[in-house]
Amino acid sequence: MKIVCIGGGPAGLYFGLLMKQLDPHHDITVVERNKPYDTFGWGVVFSDQTMDNMRQWDPATAATIQQAFNHWDDIELKFKGRSVRSGGHGFVGIGRKKLLNILQARCEELGVKLQFETEVESDADFPDADLVIASDGINSKIRNKYASVFKPDIVTRPNRFIWLGTHRLYDAFTFTFEKTEHGWFQAHIYKFDADTTTYIVETPEQVWKAHGLDHAGMDESIAFCEKLFADDLQGHKLMTNARHLRGSAWLNFQRITCEQWSHFNGRAHVVLMGDAVHTAHFAIGSGTKLAIEDAIELTRQFKELGDTAERIPEVLQRYQALRRVDVLRLQNAAWNAMEWFENVGERYADQLPPEQFMYSMLTRSQRISHENLRLRDKAWLEGFERWFAEAAGLQLPAHVPAPPPMFTPYTVRSVTLKNRVIVSPMAQYSCVDGLPGDYHLVHLGARAMGGAGMVVAEMTCPTPDARITPGCPGLWNEAQRDAWKRIVDHVHAHSDAKIALQLGHAGPKGSTNAPWDATGADHPLPEGNWPLLAASALPYLEDGAIPRAMTRDDMDRVRDDFVRSTRYAAEAGFDWLELHCAHGYLLSSFISPLTNQRSDDYGGSLDNRLRYPLEVFAALREAWPEHLPLSVRISAHDWVDGGITPDDAVQIARAFKAAGADMIDCSSGQVSALQKPTYGRMYQTPFADRIRNEAGIATIAVGAISEADHVNSIIAAGRADLCAVARPHLANPAWTLTEAAKIGYTPMPWPKQYLAGKTQMETLFAREKAQQVQPQYKEPA
Ligand SMILES: Cc1cc2nc3c(=O)[nH]c(=O)nc-3n(C[C@H](O)[C@H](O)[C@H](O)COP(=O)(O)OP(=O)(O)OC[C@H]3O[C@@H](n4cnc5c(N)ncnc54)[C@H](O)[C@@H]3O)c2cc1C
Ligand SMILES: Cc1cc2nc3c(=O)[nH]c(=O)nc-3n(C[C@H](O)[C@H](O)[C@H](O)COP(=O)(O)O)c2cc1C
Repeated sequence: MKIVCIGGGPAGLYFGLLMKQLDPHHDITVVERNKPYDTFGWGVVFSDQTMDNMRQWDPATAATIQQAFNHWDDIELKFKGRSVRSGGHGFVGIGRKKLLNILQARCEELGVKLQFETEVESDADFPDADLVIASDGINSKIRNKYASVFKPDIVTRPNRFIWLGTHRLYDAFTFTFEKTEHGWFQAHIYKFDADTTTYIVETPEQVWKAHGLDHAGMDESIAFCEKLFADDLQGHKLMTNARHLRGSAWLNFQRITCEQWSHFNGRAHVVLMGDAVHTAHFAIGSGTKLAIEDAIELTRQFKELGDTAERIPEVLQRYQALRRVDVLRLQNAAWNAMEWFENVGERYADQLPPEQFMYSMLTRSQRISHENLRLRDKAWLEGFERWFAEAAGLQLPAHVPAPPPMFTPYTVRSVTLKNRVIVSPMAQYSCVDGLPGDYHLVHLGARAMGGAGMVVAEMTCPTPDARITPGCPGLWNEAQRDAWKRIVDHVHAHSDAKIALQLGHAGPKGSTNAPWDATGADHPLPEGNWPLLAASALPYLEDGAIPRAMTRDDMDRVRDDFVRSTRYAAEAGFDWLELHCAHGYLLSSFISPLTNQRSDDYGGSLDNRLRYPLEVFAALREAWPEHLPLSVRISAHDWVDGGITPDDAVQIARAFKAAGADMIDCSSGQVSALQKPTYGRMYQTPFADRIRNEAGIATIAVGAISEADHVNSIIAAGRADLCAVARPHLANPAWTLTEAAKIGYTPMPWPKQYLAGKTQMETLFAREKAQQVQPQYKEPA
């Protein structure tokens, strides 16, 4: 085959040499605009796993790289005058120049033609090629030429960064953070050869501008950075590599993905590789890794399917299908890490103490979990757990190991939860006349014995017409109050869990079936419907019942109904009350612009839309005992254009905080049937994180939190204060006890009646764990 690689970066060179190795008869040319041994950039990083991959495919290159690379294990944080260091992270750093020199030399040795100082204008410059590799980097001309085929999606991010170098040497991958009068700067620092270190400085656009760096020349920029990081640099200079466009200038990161990776131009097949087809933010340092792994995968496909021109279409199809998935996974992790650095200043650096800041930084990509950190550096994690437990109020003798963050207590007002797990409210549709009965006693009683710090009873309604279905519980009369009291007393007598009530009014989503009845959830009852209330006369489903827009009289009545229920809840002995302002129900229908189209004082701006929910909240706070907590559940994202956004959610949280709310329970969606949520593990936790750290109010994270590792990571990183777990508790009332046993947390107290089951479960899990093969590689943090 005749192969041309446009661009002699890691992707083009490595693919060239691998294919030449596969069959020396291939005629391979790499065309590069730069001179030989001339390139931009300082050091690049990749993982031990990439090195091992390279060892398999070309041992000679891998061996030369091995001699030239720097391997290091530790990550060090310099923050607020402190240094925090943790080990076991395993990186390989090498100078970009050095890497390219090794690849160039190997290409020459194998007979790959290298054509330097040649600017390629088009793939049409190579009419007799069978295969053209567009390895021409992030600004790929070839990708731009066939943009209508490749359909690139290019997102330019707000932070500015500059890629510098220094001769100050570091023995750890170091992150340092400095605050100026305009905001935060951070530096990502890693040594890559015997006397040079990469020093990337990053800051939000507005901070960069406020310092006038948008008008600064290179020398001024360097002088600024040297002054800012003077403590860290210890008299060393920063250096630029400005001869090259991407060498050293203040850049914005561009995240690139492409729908299609290859194209037949009428003569040759053209395929994108490396940065030309995807980019990964340097926050997890994986661009070179991806480029190298692209080259390996394409070679693997030629090896497996046949390296002849006829097999090219099939090979390219398989290459795209396989690489896309891996690349996407890494891009997602890189995206999380990038967002962390974009928001780090006000959201984390201003809020978190160094210990927790370090934890948050190490888990920024959300690929590294709590238990994974334990594998990397047990001593550091145990030290962190002790710090966290003490900050949570535990006083531990030195010989007693600290519990994982999930099992630390949490106090709000006069209520202390024994741990950070709560059973999320879940409608059971199993009442008659709003009266909870034996079913609820068993349901909530079992979950209270299952280890969670608190169980939250399902949405309970202040009046019959506030119910979602005829099976929903109520709290509008003394019989209901007494029925609830029986359950609350049972929970208090037989467990050390607390019990909360969630008060809510179904509003436009009322008078419907239980999910298993008739036409299913959200659809009107076949008969016996009642009139509905909402902020505006808009049905939830297109063909659903139309509610009446509330009048001021309706508002007074409903507010007073809520207050009556609150008093009953206090009399029933509940420990905690939650006001339901989420999921498109009555109060939520006021908050979202999708469901509130009023033109009076209760519609329009967010302040206006919040007016009635805040009025109800204030009345509840007044009626609910001062010493007991009151939380608010909100939909932090409507997942519909024009609806509530996570930005709005921060404002909503601030408003409830000002009104005296203790916590925000951060759910999302169910406000509009048009919603398009992005599901995934812990998918709503980013809302809890933002609200907690931007609005400065404690939060409850909820949604696809299904393992102890999730809870530990969320709580430890300060992304939420409590985790609500719903569906896993339907499958297993003793979810918390089970998860404690799974992670080997044996001090977990069990109900005395169940103790015989504890040791058995712990032993079985320990045995299972011992049989598991530990993953060989660690993902870079
Ligand atoms: C600040 C920063 C830090 C980074 N840190 C890391 C890191 O730590 N680890 C890591 O793995 N990656 C890192 N990267 C990313 C890494 O540099 C790229 O992902 C990687 O080099 C991609 O390889 P490539 O071969 O696809 O593209 P490139 O390395 O960009 O190579 C493309 C080549 O094509 C040439 N070229 C382009 N157009 C033409 C043309 N028309 N004619 C002829 N030649 C052409 C260019 O001169 C260049 O040599 C970092 C990037 C930046 C910006
Ligand atoms: C059967 C069921 C009933 C629910 N009922 C309520 C409810 O009454 N009030 C509420 O705020 N959320 C309710 N939810 C939402 C859950 O509390 C929780 O937010 C959601 O299920 C996501 O958590 P998970 O992924 O742990 O299940 C319900 C969820 C389920 C599965």
